[in-house]
Amino acid sequence: MVAAISTAPCTIARVKGLILSGGKGTRLRPITHTSAKQLVPIANKPILFYAIEAVVAAGITDIGIITGETGAEVEAAAGDGSRFGAHLTYIPQAAPLGLAHAVLSARAFLGADSFVMYLGDNLIRHGIVPIVESFKETTPDALILLARVPEPQHFGVAELSDGKVVRLVEKPAHPVSDLALVGVYLFNHTVFDAIDSIEYSARGELEITDAIQKMIDGGRRVQSHLITEPHEAMVATWKDTGRLEDMLEANRIVLDDLPAHIDGTVGDDVRLHGKVIVQSGATLRNCTVRGPAIIGENTVIDDAYIGPYTSIYYGCTVRRAEIEHSIVLENSVIDDVDGRIESSLIGKECRIGRSPLRPRTIKLMVGDHSRVELR
Ligand code: DAU
Repeated sequence: MVAAISTAPCTIARVKGLILSGGKGTRLRPITHTSAKQLVPIANKPILFYAIEAVVAAGITDIGIITGETGAEVEAAAGDGSRFGAHLTYIPQAAPLGLAHAVLSARAFLGADSFVMYLGDNLIRHGIVPIVESFKETTPDALILLARVPEPQHFGVAELSDGKVVRLVEKPAHPVSDLALVGVYLFNHTVFDAIDSIEYSARGELEITDAIQKMIDGGRRVQSHLITEPHEAMVATWKDTGRLEDMLEANRIVLDDLPAHIDGTVGDDVRLHGKVIVQSGATLRNCTVRGPAIIGENTVIDDAYIGPYTSIYYGCTVRRAEIEHSIVLENSVIDDVDGRIESSLIGKECRIGRSPLRPRTIKLMVGDHSRVELR
């Protein structure tokens, strides 16, 4: 019998997705005291959903989701994946022991297939289609994404020589470059050999950065792609510091990209300026909304001003109040507030309003790690 010899170019036919949505739920405090950080909404959509959509847009529909202690909440939000046109497999990680540990947890799911690993708290503005295409065509063992960042010490940092990655260091105290690893990586199965040969780092994690360094040292083909367009990669740097500013910036950038769209009910006495999205079931009365802004499902805006770069999530009420450049999470009520609320992140089911009783003092019930700035 003569074996058939294939003359087809060597490309990768099948790539799976692995989205990391585990980790400790304590970093974007106080919001993540109670919720998965990957479910915090940016322009009224959980950040995790942008990751799933980006992977699906690249033609990858068989996706594993790594989960941790907030797994039930993540699963309830994303479901079986049919609404994204994907099939989601939830993979519990016993403990948040590092990105490489997460890959090990997915060993049975990944098998011998190549995969894109996407950190569920990262946003890549223009998606990953060309990157996945390039990986399929050039078939390296690993393809990593790099972006120039102002504070590289918070990231994995790459050192290049003649355009090739020669060294990767996780969160170095004294970075040798400003090239940070962005949270999207493509691998073939050889990454498992590298992970099997690394040790836990000083912070007690199995680092994917160390595994990629092993691949480089072992002569594997590790390619890098530098994201050059400003703001193309928005790496969620708020996670360690609770930096509200980064979240507001992500909200700003995503809102800028969205087209205006009205699904809800907008009264005759409403003034809409610029790009405004009114989601279904929302009701706007006697108000001014200056976009870019998004008003969530079943939210009521009444006798109010909503200024640019504001996302009000579902089930909220904003009445006799003014707010701009802010994010309000689901089912919160802002009622009868003097002055304008600005550059704020308001959690779920909060009530902000005026006291009906005298003395009219400031009364607060504020969760751990909250920040309140008063006039
Ligand atoms: O954001 C890019 C950076 O992500 C890279 O520059 C770093 O090299 C890389 O190590 C990683 O850094 P962080 O330490 O900031 O990653 P973090 O622990 O925040 O986890 C990233 C995502 O992965 C997040 O959605 C939580 C999830 N995760 C994390 C760990 C440690 C897991 O699912 N399991 C885990 O064990």
